[in-house]
Amino acid sequence: MKPYTMGQFQLSHRVVLAPMTRNRSKGSVPQPHAALYYSQRATRGGLLVSEGTLVSPQGYPEIPGIWTQEQVEAWKPIVDAVHSKGALFFCQIGHVGRVSTADFQLDGEAPISSTDKPVTPDAESGAVYSKPRRLRTDEIPGIVDDFRRAARNAIEAGFDGVEIHGVHGFLLEQFMKDSVNDRDDEYGGSLENRCRFVVEIIDAVVGEVGAHRVGMRLSPFAEYLDCIDSDPVALGNYMVQQLNKHEDFLYCHMVEPRMAIVDGRLQIPHGLLPFRKAFKGTFMASGGYDGDEGNVVVEEGYADLVAYGRPFLANPDLPRRFELKAALNKYDRSTFYTHDPVVGYTDYPFLDDETNDLNVHA
Ligand SMILES: Cc1cc2nc3c(=O)[nH]c(=O)nc-3n(C[C@H](O)[C@H](O)[C@H](O)COP(=O)(O)O)c2cc1C
Repeated sequence: MKPYTMGQFQLSHRVVLAPMTRNRSKGSVPQPHAALYYSQRATRGGLLVSEGTLVSPQGYPEIPGIWTQEQVEAWKPIVDAVHSKGALFFCQIGHVGRVSTADFQLDGEAPISSTDKPVTPDAESGAVYSKPRRLRTDEIPGIVDDFRRAARNAIEAGFDGVEIHGVHGFLLEQFMKDSVNDRDDEYGGSLENRCRFVVEIIDAVVGEVGAHRVGMRLSPFAEYLDCIDSDPVALGNYMVQQLNKHEDFLYCHMVEPRMAIVDGRLQIPHGLLPFRKAFKGTFMASGGYDGDEGNVVVEEGYADLVAYGRPFLANPDLPRRFELKAALNKYDRSTFYTHDPVVGYTDYPFLDDETNDLNVHA
């Protein structure tokens, strides 16, 4: 709960809302109920990162976008609601790439990727994605421009900055990770080549809104949607070096490797240390943290900030609960991605102000 200065921003505590897709936007336009959802999680001097927001029409219609003026106007009251609570709000901008289907593309064509290999269908969730179309080399600057426009639009909508979505098997990882990228142009092959597209996006976004307003989220160890790298440490180190090239690059947000059972207990592996040491700006860690573990890593200097996903989703007053060491509501996985504007979204209870009693969410 200690204050922290992140570039030009004064944070009053280190508990960050991690980006979380909630599938409650209609036609890729954010809806008024998002103002309540985010403002419930806003605190004076707290930092929120928005759900992944599309830079162009390519994904699911329930995921918000930020490529049209209508979307910018729709974000404004949501951002205002967060600011009126005194919190900072960053917009996570991203592209799903092949994690989509032809039905969701404007032209009905195949979704784009670094490759034409499809994602292996997921037997558990039943998700089946279309076979993608390998981006031509000459099409890449157009996608970079989409990120540039999204960053500009985010600032116009009032966001304090943007976080570039470079995680979890979406388009940027489809280029960075060698299990997927099978290109033979200057965007494939060596580590430098595989990261070139992402570096161009970072440079474009920084050029558009300034490094002091840009964060990057990376998950070199993640293995989602067939995106796996044979040398995640080299990948993470290379990307950190690219961020360091921009003086004042605001933050690097990294996702921990999967938790493992150590000494009979599920433990966070703290696998991000080399990146924390190498990165010059603010370092944010996420993935599996609770309040105690967050305290430990901030105290040890392993991370400046800790982003919480599921616990923050289910506990709108998470920083206060950490402060009071109060018990937490349980999250309900079945409503993570449903479309109801209230259920599993804005109806998670706060601590009762009178008694500090818990109303544990069923
Ligand atoms: C419902 C849900 C949606 C998510 N959507 C995103 C997203 O849009 N962008 C992203 O980078 N990560 C996303 N994530 C991952 C979270 O940001 C976070 O890394 C993950 O939940 C692990 O952290 P936790 O253990 O604190 O929940 C999502 C996670 C959940 C549960």
